[in-house]
Amino acid sequence: MKNQELAIVFDKDRALKYDSQFKKMDAFKDALHLCMQLKFADLPENANILCVGAGTGAEILAMAKIFPNWQFTAVEPSGPMLTVCRKKAEAAGITARCTFHEGYIDSLPESGAFDAATSILVSQFIMDDMERIAFFKAINNHLKPAGLLISADISADLESKNFASLKNVWLQMMLYCGMPEESVHNMIKPFGETVSVQSLEKTANLIAKGGFTNPILFCQTLLIHAWYAEKV
Ligand SMILES: C[S@@+](CC[C@H](N)C(=O)[O-])C[C@H]1O[C@@H](n2cnc3c(N)ncnc32)[C@H](O)[C@@H]1O
Repeated sequence: MKNQELAIVFDKDRALKYDSQFKKMDAFKDALHLCMQLKFADLPENANILCVGAGTGAEILAMAKIFPNWQFTAVEPSGPMLTVCRKKAEAAGITARCTFHEGYIDSLPESGAFDAATSILVSQFIMDDMERIAFFKAINNHLKPAGLLISADISADLESKNFASLKNVWLQMMLYCGMPEESVHNMIKPFGETVSVQSLEKTANLIAKGGFTNPILFCQTLLIHAWYAEKV
């Protein structure tokens, strides 16, 4: 997906609906945020966290509550998504702990070093493998030595029997979230077209090629998989 298309996908309308549309899936996010919290528990008390594709701020708000001295840098190319993120940070009283960067990781000024980074449901929008690796490399460049990355994406081997079965559970979840039955099938259509859904092995490999140690899969909710990995 090209950058301009991204701005259209995560436009104002989508940004305003983003948190409510899949509210009934919040338990999935909560599970992932809990796993993140556990993996990040050993970071310094005053850690600096880079959140790429921060969206409306879900992961920042979750971490900020648990780790009261951490600082966050939200990198987000969609202005409307970042506006919602800022408002939520204000409402939570954490604005002073946040830096907001409207743009891509490549345009983030060299800041020294982050202790850890997150990329939650972001790299899947980069259709070209080499660009996806470059995305992970760019994150890597902002990390301290041995800095941690947590990356989550929709991942599956689209040709596999497992996917043929799991996709029905995924569609069931869309119905559960309140999506009209006639629209539910459209939720799989972008897979492989505008969302780069790759096998677990390949997704992990793309992260590793960005300069990370063997990525470890540590959380799965249906098709959403999360890995952690350390800067080599
Ligand atoms: C599905 S949302 C996830 C938002 C948030 N991380 C969450 O878990 O709720 C994906 C976000 O990534 C942003 N995004 C997409 N491609 C990106 C890229 N190449 N670099 C940074 N952000 C990107 C989109 O604008 C959108 O806000």
